[in-house]
Amino acid sequence: MTLEELTFFGMNIGEMAKTLLPSVITLAGDLGAGKTTLTRAIGRGFDVVEPVTSPTFALVHEYTAREHRRFYHLDLYRIRGPHELANIGWESLLAERALVVIEWPDRAGALLPDDALAITLAHVEGDDTRRRATW
Ligand SMILES: Nc1ncnc2c1ncn2[C@@H]1O[C@H](COP(=O)(O)OP(=O)(O)O)[C@@H](O)[C@H]1O
Ligand SMILES: [Mg+2]
Repeated sequence: MTLEELTFFGMNIGEMAKTLLPSVITLAGDLGAGKTTLTRAIGRGFDVVEPVTSPTFALVHEYTAREHRRFYHLDLYRIRGPHELANIGWESLLAERALVVIEWPDRAGALLPDDALAITLAHVEGDDTRRRATW
């Protein structure tokens, strides 16, 4: 997908998620694969009001979407193990009627809900303007 296609893809997912709450979407893939870019597009489709930034240092960013819907963006890159998830209120967060998007989901190990929509992004060899998405 081009950046434009990936953005369109994400916006459609965000729009769809409004009717499927609660929902967890996991985004796997290397650094630069487009996980945060896709998260932003999902947020736009979900009608998040404020801009969705990169949570690399914060672990969790919480946003409000139209009609008081909740949107959580988690980046687990920096956690050293699933035990650290207790600090961010993992259990209660997943129990909310919210859309939760998780970058680096592998870090959560067995704590990851098994009914998440799992998307993987990958670079396309020889073409840095495109990404492959599988789910
Ligand atoms: N087709 C594409 N899809 C997604 N990102 C792309 C694409 N082409 C170029 N990019 C660029 O690649 C970078 C992806 O960064 P980011 O979304 O932060 O990745 P990640 O969160 O996976 O580390 C961005 O700078 C984005 O503009
Ligand atoms: Mg990222």
